[in-house]
Amino acid sequence: MKDQQIVEQIMELKNKRKALIIAHNYQRDEIQAIADLTGDSLELSRKAAETDAEVIVFCGVNFMAESASVLSPDKTVLMPAMDAMCPMAEMIAVDSGRGVYQSFPGYSEPPGYVYPSKFSLRDIKAKYPGVPVVAYVNTTADVKAESDICCTSANVVAVIESLPGERVICIPDKNLSMWAQKNTKKEVIAWDGYCHVHDRVTVADVSAARQLHPNALVMAHPECRIEVLEISDHVTSTSGMLKYAKASSASEFIVGTEIGLLYRLRKENPDKTFYPLRKDMVCPNMKKTTLTLLYETLRDMRNIVKVPEEIRTRAKKALDRMLALSANSPSKR
Ligand code: 13P
Ligand code: SF4
Repeated sequence: MKDQQIVEQIMELKNKRKALIIAHNYQRDEIQAIADLTGDSLELSRKAAETDAEVIVFCGVNFMAESASVLSPDKTVLMPAMDAMCPMAEMIAVDSGRGVYQSFPGYSEPPGYVYPSKFSLRDIKAKYPGVPVVAYVNTTADVKAESDICCTSANVVAVIESLPGERVICIPDKNLSMWAQKNTKKEVIAWDGYCHVHDRVTVADVSAARQLHPNALVMAHPECRIEVLEISDHVTSTSGMLKYAKASSASEFIVGTEIGLLYRLRKENPDKTFYPLRKDMVCPNMKKTTLTLLYETLRDMRNIVKVPEEIRTRAKKALDRMLALSANSPSKR
């Protein structure tokens, strides 16, 4: 089938199944174009909780579809690419043993780097008894179930400041945690996970991009390294970048996140110019969802994501506690 025919079939099936197609801002252009809703992790969690649709088709990676299942147990949650996972989310397990981390083509670790292959949340909690655990939404449902509250890149500081006491454990992203530490007086106990797409960006990349585009403002996702964030003009989530670019009087921007965001940035700001900070900021797992897989998933009602009830109820507490807080935390400049 040609793309246009697949799109027509998807629309037909979508109406027949009373389905809502949700896509993360990093999805392929054609998936974003067909989705009912696009957004960052926080927006998508909220929308998944609010929708009346009977079926949610989640175009993203597995922790996102799991969150939709946790928040909407009565709905059928489908995921077109069942093997689309977030490597960072796999870097921490409830008990040690899961997630031996593997490297990615084109990505090399800094010299001397030791892979964080066997993180156990229970070990971390035992080391810091009574200290609340903030789980980035990029974690699996069982890890959320063992945590006190979730956060996203959009609200991490507000989440940390909502908690009692002067210390928090922040899992699994070391870069997001360091960014949070810079913006809160509380002590943030960070763990050593990272996103291979964002962690590859260096200060030299920012300097090179600025040399090429001297009038452009640099926007960076808080999953980038702290030294990159410190020299950027604005640090925020993917949807935060959309808002910032729209509101700014500048007309050129260097985009320090996964290149899928360029689709909406360009579509919503046709008079502005956007350059990727690095052209290889591509999340292979986010690109696994294709029109054909989306069509087949809706046709066969296959790839159902269902979080076991015992985990779901506990994970929901952590997500609900986050969703009850205001959506935006202060970000830089
Ligand atoms: P956002 O919440 O900013 O969309 O980020 C999600 C993510 O996976 C970043 O790599
Ligand atoms: Fe995970 Fe990074 Fe991909 Fe986001 S961009 S889903 S953090 S691997």
